[in-house]
Amino acid sequence: MTTKLWGGRFTQPTDKFVEEFTASIEFDQRLYRYDIQGSKAHAEMLGRQGIIAPEEAQQIIAGLDEIMTDIEAGKIEFSIALEDIHMNIEARLIEQIGAVGGKLHTGRSRNDQVALDIRLYLRDEIDAILEYLTALEGSLVKQAETNLDVIMPGFTHLQTAQPVLYSHHMLAYREMIIRDISRLQDLRVRFNHMPLGAGALAGTTFNIDREWVAEQLGFDGVTRNSLDSVSDRDFAIEFCSFSAILMMHLSRLSEELILWSSADFNFIELSDAFCTGSSIMPQKKNPDVPELVRGKTGRVYGNLLSLLTLMKSLPLAYNKDMQEDKEPLFDTIDTIKGSLKIFADMIALMQVKADNMRLAAARGFSTATDVADYCVRKGLPFRQAHEVVGKTVRYCVETGKGIPELSLDEFREFSELIDEDIYDYVTLEASVNARKATGGTAREAVERELARLKR
Ligand code: ARG
Repeated sequence: MTTKLWGGRFTQPTDKFVEEFTASIEFDQRLYRYDIQGSKAHAEMLGRQGIIAPEEAQQIIAGLDEIMTDIEAGKIEFSIALEDIHMNIEARLIEQIGAVGGKLHTGRSRNDQVALDIRLYLRDEIDAILEYLTALEGSLVKQAETNLDVIMPGFTHLQTAQPVLYSHHMLAYREMIIRDISRLQDLRVRFNHMPLGAGALAGTTFNIDREWVAEQLGFDGVTRNSLDSVSDRDFAIEFCSFSAILMMHLSRLSEELILWSSADFNFIELSDAFCTGSSIMPQKKNPDVPELVRGKTGRVYGNLLSLLTLMKSLPLAYNKDMQEDKEPLFDTIDTIKGSLKIFADMIALMQVKADNMRLAAARGFSTATDVADYCVRKGLPFRQAHEVVGKTVRYCVETGKGIPELSLDEFREFSELIDEDIYDYVTLEASVNARKATGGTAREAVERELARLKR
């Protein structure tokens, strides 16, 4: 029987299966670096405050450094009997430096320790994710910059609506990513407070210096209530909520890329590196990456729901239930990092089939609104103009013509207000470029926007 760090009040060993069932070491070992980082700061503070001798603190810190090196070299085998990463490291420390290692846990509990570890870990991951988000944003902007001449059909109800610049379409996704970035920065600020010192729930009787530890560990301050410090997982929920929204965005882009690479749309070519073939149909090139990202959106939503449900109705303060916060959080982090990384690369390499996009934009009477607006400028109330153009489009459908192909006589069948200058309004370029106001799809508006992003 492994001697438990908490074994004092027990007379019988833990049931083997209970041990396995309650252990979190299988998954919380990924926190080791942060556990050691937090313990080092805590030990040093104990020494500075004279709670333990400064030499003891130095011994503990040296021991922790050694454990870090050993873990990184794969030399440490974690034990289920030691339940979690915190006790695995502490037991190892005592094994290594002797009884003095047992002083590390003075004025601390695993409850505030784990609250600290997750925050440190998540903060690092957020900083990495912010870089992935910026890379994806860069790929979207690059697509927009290098394809400024490309006109595609804009859709509502997935029906051709009005022509838009492909660049404008890409920049729409950039807006979503920018909001994601801002949400992530925002939640990072909110949780960047140091929980250590809450102890198990009520605080500690030792004369600790929480502010000093907070500063050492790069926090903006300390948490203000010990009960809340050990029982708050809002930050994990907020992070999963941010992630769910991000994946919703990526799944919308995925859906478009999947549609666009179909033979029917044929708007884009994804790089071979991001697609696979079919084992039976030789002609197939499947857009696996966007499909998988679209699919993975489900598990990220699920993780958010898991965490919300986990925390629902939990009484203050720490409850063992909360050990279940880690897997959904870790899975979310892994999933969004993978999705962002692969998307940034895939978008950067995506080829646009400009001619097909243009043909599609021309096919769907996408400049009908421009004819209506033209009539309005000639004095016709918009409702009547709508009627006039509706009839014009019906005529186009019956005769198989596009709007720009109609002769002036044909146009005038529907309204005497229409003159020769109508042709200045019904081309795809004219339609796009007429929408000049900020946020519109006109080339000059999109160029202005790109220039603004550069600044
Ligand atoms: N492994 C635990 C968790 O992840 C650490 C905190 C355990 N605290 C306790 N009193 N059992 O939540």
